[in-house]
Amino acid sequence: MIRTIVVMAAVAIGIGGVAAQSDVISERKALMKKNAQHAKGMNGMIKGETPFDAAAAAAAFTQWGETAAAMPKLFPDNSKTGGETRALPKIWEDSAGWNAQIAGFAKAAAAGKAKATSLEGLKETMPAVSKACNDCHEGYRAAQKK
Ligand code: HEC
Repeated sequence: MIRTIVVMAAVAIGIGGVAAQSDVISERKALMKKNAQHAKGMNGMIKGETPFDAAAAAAAFTQWGETAAAMPKLFPDNSKTGGETRALPKIWEDSAGWNAQIAGFAKAAAAGKAKATSLEGLKETMPAVSKACNDCHEGYRAAQKK
């Protein structure tokens, strides 16, 4: 009886662990997708494809700031593999560098939010955000599988 309970508990923990790990991977991917949707929206305004929209700009910079704040929790040790993640091992091997990338992104989002109240301000501040995205991807994200 006791042995049965122990085995059942182990199975329950095992399943819970796997679910938690794939959840966190899909959660961070979903946030990254939102990052990209917002970046596309902002770049469309900068190129003049869509009119400047201050509320949309505020929403984009807010989401980037919230994503930066969430990121430290979205890469736990048990999420190095699985869920077709493109996260590189360097995230866990070079946590100082990784944290600096997150901090740079948070800073670009916060500084940009104050500036992106006009098209001119958005044009000035968007390159810092794009650079933060690209710098981090270059070092810490695997290339897309073809
Ligand atoms: C601090 C590092 C970092 C920053 C900053 C960052 N990303 Fe990412 N991004 C990642 C990592 C790591 C992954 C891979 C996540 C995974 O597959 O588990 C990723 C994945 C993605 C993906 C693919 C999502 C998917 O569905 O697989 C997109 C799109 C993306 N990022 C866009 C952006 C954009 C746009 C920005 C800036 C506005 C940004 N990212 C900022 C680290 C970062």
